[in-house]
Amino acid sequence: MSDLIVDPSGDEKKRSYSMLIDGDWRPPTSGRRFETVNPFDGAAWAEIPEGTEADVDAAVGAARAAFDSGPWGKATGTERAAAMRRLADLVERNAEALARIETTDNGKLLRETHTQTKALLGWLQYFAGAADKIEGATIPADKPNYFLYTRHEPVGVVAAITPWNSPLLLLIWKLAPALAAGCTVVVKPAEQTSASTLEFGRLFEAAGFPSGVFNVVTGTGPDCGRALIRHPGVDKVAFTGSTATGIAVMKDAADHLAGVSLELGGKSPNIVFDDADLEEATNGVVAGIFAATGQTCIAGSRLLVQQGIHDDLVARLVERAARIKLGDPLEPATEMGPVAFPEQQAKIVDYLDLGRHEGATVATGGGVPGDASLAGGCFVEPTIFTGVDNGMRIAREEIFGPVLAVIPFADEEEAVRIANDSDFGLAAGVWTGDVRRAHRVAHALRAGTVWVNSYRAVSFAAPFGGFRQSGLGRESGLESIREFTEVKTVWIELSGQTRDPFSIG
Ligand code: NAI
Ligand code: MG
Repeated sequence: MSDLIVDPSGDEKKRSYSMLIDGDWRPPTSGRRFETVNPFDGAAWAEIPEGTEADVDAAVGAARAAFDSGPWGKATGTERAAAMRRLADLVERNAEALARIETTDNGKLLRETHTQTKALLGWLQYFAGAADKIEGATIPADKPNYFLYTRHEPVGVVAAITPWNSPLLLLIWKLAPALAAGCTVVVKPAEQTSASTLEFGRLFEAAGFPSGVFNVVTGTGPDCGRALIRHPGVDKVAFTGSTATGIAVMKDAADHLAGVSLELGGKSPNIVFDDADLEEATNGVVAGIFAATGQTCIAGSRLLVQQGIHDDLVARLVERAARIKLGDPLEPATEMGPVAFPEQQAKIVDYLDLGRHEGATVATGGGVPGDASLAGGCFVEPTIFTGVDNGMRIAREEIFGPVLAVIPFADEEEAVRIANDSDFGLAAGVWTGDVRRAHRVAHALRAGTVWVNSYRAVSFAAPFGGFRQSGLGRESGLESIREFTEVKTVWIELSGQTRDPFSIG
């Protein structure tokens, strides 16, 4: 396709990337690049710049200048919306190429990454539609001599830090409302999956955004990411990743009082009652834990199942899990790809050992597959542990892999109690045929998203975020624009009369 900007083929020669800073493609000042590796075949397919504090400083400086004195800072909401729609058109034409790059980098199925890159449009269009509707209020003042109103002004320079499991989707959740609000952005993608964000930067440029509005710096979390969070020119931090890193990010942001929104980990319960449609529930539980090889913050990693249907549901799940087709994530028939990189595979395998050690029973899976055709990749078998107690570490800690912990319960009260007995509170699934129970349980759960008779649905229109250690703030939904604005209150004195200077009023 002639209008492709993103090059879809990852194999012609090893690509060497530069960083997008102030509209230029700049090599790292460190002079160093590191390899990014395809987790399916172990091939190092591209080189990513090792950005450092100096590169971060240049990028934040560019974003600061673009916000403070460039045309973007003066653009109307209507103008910002037009630019976002041009970007949406370019993303649409390049969605498959971007998806191939993500699959090459993190091993997610192409059908999943392609669904995600096509979904970027929805976020851009929805927030483009909102860009010219960010309205303040006219406030009836309690003092007759004042006209009082508010303005919702952009917060300024936004630092976005994204993880490797869904690089562009989790970027757009931050970027679309930030641009709609009028902010400028510096993104630091995960070191394992920086290529799609760099390629996305090329589209941004082609859509005609002024330079400095969108900048990409790459490198490790502790060096490049941390320098970005700590930079005094950053006004707001939007982060997705692990809870431990999120806490560190919030502490660093606190040193210069930058606002934070954090989308962190989860240990989400999928709760199946004995009045549920078991075929639908089976499918939903499989989607919750084995889709994306379990590497999602919303993974339904705890299955809470009512005692009377426990054996039936487990048998169905074991049968389905055992026939999940593992393989090349670019192949349409593949159902589960590798995990994203060797350290992640090792972490999951350690949890499999831990589960056995804690006394849980492996109902299926339990290790690295023996199949010779998968030997070059970071594969883990879809695994189901039964006999799990909610106090075990495999029920409390985020594994971020295809590992399901099955916990039986007696009644609704016990189900809610076990579900809420967690450090996390990102999402939950409820499977029941009883409409009253559906709402009752949805209200009782301490989680940012509850799906009833469904799992893993997301939308640009639906606020998303976590209770407790799953995060702070919400992404998506109209309200998420508020994360990127400051409220300004304006008082206009109407009478022209002087007043007592020594008394507030
Ligand atoms: P991480 O949270 O350390 O990395 C996420 C992003 O933060 C990356 O871009 C990384 O470079 C950056 N980062 C790391 N340290 C930083 C720092 N001090 N300051 C600023 N930025 C920093 O997660 P990691 O190490 O890639 O994965 C470890 C575990 O975290 C996974 O096994 C999984 O359990 C969890 N995780 C959860 C995600 C979610 O969506 N909830 C996404 C990614 C990881
Ligand atoms: Mg990689």
